[in-house]
Amino acid sequence: MLQTPADFAANQASASAPRLFYGRFVHNTDLENLEYVNNGIIFIDEAGKILETHKDATEEKLAELQQQHGLSEENVVRLGDKQFLMPGLVDTHIHAPQYVFTGSGMDLQLLEWLETYTFPRESAFKSVEYAKVAYRDVVSQLLRNGTTTACYYGTIHLEACKVLANIVDELGQRAYVGKVNMDRNSPDYYIETTDDSVEKTEEFIKYMLEMNKANPRVYPVLTPRFVPSCSGELMRQLGDLARKYDIPIQSHLCENKGEIEWVKHLHPELPSYTAVYDHYGLLTDKTIMAHCVHLTQEERELIKEKKAGISHCAKSNFALRSGVCNVRQLLEEDQKVGMGTDVSGGYAISMFDAIRTSAIASQTVSFTEKRADGSAYEHLKLAELLHLATLGGAKVMGLEDRIGNFVVGKQFDALLIDPSAPESNFHVYSHDDIYTTFEKFIYVGDDRNIRKVYVDGRVVDNKDTA
Ligand code: GUN
Ligand code: FE
Repeated sequence: MLQTPADFAANQASASAPRLFYGRFVHNTDLENLEYVNNGIIFIDEAGKILETHKDATEEKLAELQQQHGLSEENVVRLGDKQFLMPGLVDTHIHAPQYVFTGSGMDLQLLEWLETYTFPRESAFKSVEYAKVAYRDVVSQLLRNGTTTACYYGTIHLEACKVLANIVDELGQRAYVGKVNMDRNSPDYYIETTDDSVEKTEEFIKYMLEMNKANPRVYPVLTPRFVPSCSGELMRQLGDLARKYDIPIQSHLCENKGEIEWVKHLHPELPSYTAVYDHYGLLTDKTIMAHCVHLTQEERELIKEKKAGISHCAKSNFALRSGVCNVRQLLEEDQKVGMGTDVSGGYAISMFDAIRTSAIASQTVSFTEKRADGSAYEHLKLAELLHLATLGGAKVMGLEDRIGNFVVGKQFDALLIDPSAPESNFHVYSHDDIYTTFEKFIYVGDDRNIRKVYVDGRVVDNKDTA
């Protein structure tokens, strides 16, 4: 992962060169379908935009394209026999500061876990020096594990949030970054006044929008932590900011039964938890609500009506024993659904782990829940799981025109997977074709198989130079 200055220079140079990728690739064409391409070509320009894709290509076709576009051998990336490209992964819900205590307190449920581990650890990010170290760790780890796009929560601290955005910018990831808002029901050492919260949030939005002018990969997201920690007045003003700047919003919704009871108690005047966000202008077509484990039908209808997105965080839902989200039901209702790690309610940073845990969650639903007519819910298939982790996440973040699969006009955010990588956790044999190799990697592979990670066509993690 560590790059020498020479490697870094080479990668920078390659970012500004058009390239032809020649070999196998796998991606979703839609929710239910994966396309497996054996002899493919993906042609990208110097800004990482996909200009052409070809299936069933030959060496002759490659040579023809090379000549047509005046490209030398240096501009051609030939994948090895067993290697393939897949789209970069989209983590629609991750708390960057929580990386520092990943895997702690997993015997607790949400509200005790927040009080015992989360708030004390997050409060340490008032130190910018601490933030610089921790945020570099988490962004590098995500890239190394193939997360090319992340939707981050920071902490309440403006300066530390700027540090997170700067590191994302420097390391080349695509991300939304949010300054967390908390003005009630929070410990003395980790709380803001309403005015301060709104003022710092607006300052952060301006900072991010300025950064976005030079680097369109980074963008602000409003981040009221959840209803219990945000007063009505704060939520109202954040709703105003969402409208003023037309930016996305993220929060937590119906994660845990105790949390839902608490919200009922705090807002008896409104019919549901979802209705509280809606009342304050925080439920829009740019909203990303994490968890949504215990939504009522009315709440699902409201989310659908407002075209808000849902981040499915299966690992966290198991680890904090929040419940099991019925994603099949959400998909049947045509909701926008993506996947999130929810580090560190979820203790695994890898989106491949999120895929596997989502598979187990959906199998659990298939055994335990029935529709009104008594029929069982089908478990999620490989294509659907991959969709949630790529194109589905892109849709939830409003980025489906830019990323999520290898379609002409989108940006090349990709992983170069090597099933024969040194120390690979699995092996491929002569009986393995592209289908079995891909499925093996999804279920058994890990970061050791991710040889290169591309964002906008630029190499942002490279194990071949490690
Ligand atoms: N609800 C409010 N804050 C949090 C958080 O940090 N993690 C999770 N999983 N749920 C929350
Ligand atoms: Fe969360």
